[in-house]
Amino acid sequence: MLLELEGIRKNFGGVQALKRGDLRAAAGEVHALIGENGAGKSTMMKIIAGMYQRDGGDVRWKGQSVHFQKPGDAHAVGISMVHQESLLAPHLTVAENIYLGRETLHGPLLHKAAMQSSASRLIEENNFPLQAHWKVRDLSPAQRQLVEICRALHGASSLIIFDEPTASLSESETVEVFRIVRELRQKGIGILYITHRLVELAEIADKVTVLRDGDTVYHGNYKDTSMDEIVHQMVGRKVERIYEREKLTPGKEVLKVDIPGAAFSIHEGEIVGVAGLMGAGRTELCQTLFGVTPSDEGEIRIEGRKVHPKSPREAVDAGIALITEDRQQTGLALELPIRMNITMANLGAVTKAGIVRQAEEKTVSERFRDKLQIRAASVEQNAGRLSGGNQQKVVIAKWLYRDTKIVLFDEPTRGIDVGAKAEVFALMDEMAREGKAILMVSSELPELLQVADRILVMRGGKITAELPRETTQEEIMHHAAVGN
Ligand SMILES: Nc1ncnc2c1ncn2[C@@H]1O[C@H](COP(=O)(O)OP(=O)(O)OP(=O)(O)O)[C@@H](O)[C@H]1O
Ligand SMILES: [Mg+2]
Repeated sequence: MLLELEGIRKNFGGVQALKRGDLRAAAGEVHALIGENGAGKSTMMKIIAGMYQRDGGDVRWKGQSVHFQKPGDAHAVGISMVHQESLLAPHLTVAENIYLGRETLHGPLLHKAAMQSSASRLIEENNFPLQAHWKVRDLSPAQRQLVEICRALHGASSLIIFDEPTASLSESETVEVFRIVRELRQKGIGILYITHRLVELAEIADKVTVLRDGDTVYHGNYKDTSMDEIVHQMVGRKVERIYEREKLTPGKEVLKVDIPGAAFSIHEGEIVGVAGLMGAGRTELCQTLFGVTPSDEGEIRIEGRKVHPKSPREAVDAGIALITEDRQQTGLALELPIRMNITMANLGAVTKAGIVRQAEEKTVSERFRDKLQIRAASVEQNAGRLSGGNQQKVVIAKWLYRDTKIVLFDEPTRGIDVGAKAEVFALMDEMAREGKAILMVSSELPELLQVADRILVMRGGKITAELPRETTQEEIMHHAAVGN
C-alpha cells in the first residue's frame, strides 16, 4: 500500500469540496477516480500532491501520516501529478517546462543543451508530436497536455496522478497514454487516474473509487463492477447513456462556406459534425469562420449575404459564435465572477443608459447556472475557482446567452461528466429546433454519431469526406486516416 486517505475534508469559503475522501492506492496498480463535475476529484488529488492543505482527515504515505505543505514535499517522496488545467509557463520552451522547478534534481545550472536533448529523448520515446525547442504558447491544448505528461514522467518514482490526461487528446495520443500507464504499472509505480471517458476504464483500471458530492460512495475492483453500477454510483440515479437525437427537417441554408479545403453548408436546424485526427485542421476551420485566422481566398455566406469576418468581434456581429476547445486561454476570464463571464459577450442586453445592471446580470446568470447545473457557491464565484467541467459549462452559457444564428462548438463536451453531456446535447438540440445552424467538432466519434445530422471528415487541412448520419466509426476513421 502506497497511499491511504481517510475522511479527508476540504472547504473553500462555503463550498464543501470534500466531506469524506477515502482512497487506498497500491504500487503497481491503476486506480481510477470517477465522479461528476465538481465532485471533488481534483481537490483530493491536489491535497495528495501538496497543492492544497486538508481541513481534516488523515493522509498516510507508506504507513506514515504525512502533511505535504507544498508540491515539492510530495515530489520529494516520489509523487507527481499531471494536471487537468495546464500549469505550464507559456513563454518557455517545451524542454524548459519539463524541467521547470526541478532544478534541485539537476543542480541550478543545468546545461541548456543537455536539457534539450534529454527532453527530446523523452518525447521520442513516447511518440509525441512535439519538439523540445517549441514555445509552449504556440501549442494546442492537446500538445500542452503531452508536455504536462512528459513533465510528470520525468522524475516519476512512486506514484503518478493523471487528472483527465486524455480529455484533449485524439485517438492515437490516447493509445500512447495507455501504453505509458501500463508501463508505469509494470514498473511497480502506483497510478491514480481521473477520467470522464468511462470506456477508458476497461483499458486500464484495476480499482475504482467513486466520489459523489465530496463523499466516497464506492470502492472496489474494476472487474467486480459494471459500467451501469459505476454511473449509478456517480450520479445517484439511473442515466440513459445513449443520447438519441431526433432528426429534424432542415430549413433554409444559413451558412455556406467555400474556402480552400472546405466547401459545405449548414441549414437551419442542422447539426453538422466535424471529425478528424489531431492536427487535421478542425480547430483552424473554426478559427477561420470566427475571424481569428481569416481566409483571403474563397467566400463565406450567411443567409446568402457575403461576409468576411476579420476578427471574432466581426464574426459575432455577423452572427457566428465559437465555443472554443481552449476554455482557459480564450473562453473564460478566470479572474471574473461567473455572472460577468456569462454576460460578457452580450453586455448590451444587460446594460441600460450605459450602465451594466448587476441585478439583471445576476438573474440571467442564475438562470444559466440552473439550466446547465453549474456547481458553485454563487454566481459571484470567480470562474477560475470552478472545477474543470463547470468552467466548460460557463463557456457554453456565455454563447447561449449571446444568441447567434450560427454556433461553432469545438470539442463541447471536453471534461464534462456523463450526466451533463446529455444536458449539453439536449441544449444543442434545443438550439437546432430554434432554427440555429450548428457545427460541432468532436474527437468523440460515438458522440458525433449520436448528435450530428451529417459528418464532415478532415485530413491534412481539407475536408476529405461528407458522411451521412448513418455512417460508422470505422468509415469515419478510414477517411480521417487514409482517405479514399
Ligand atoms: N480553489 C478553489 N476555490 C474555491 N472553490 C474551489 C476551488 N477548487 C475547487 N473548488 C470547488 O470545489 C468543488 C470540487 O471541485 P473539483 O475541482 O475537485 O471537482 P472535480 O471533481 O475535479 O470536477 P471536474 O470533473 O469538473 O474536474 C467545486 O464545487 C469547485 O468549485
Ligand atoms: Mg477536476
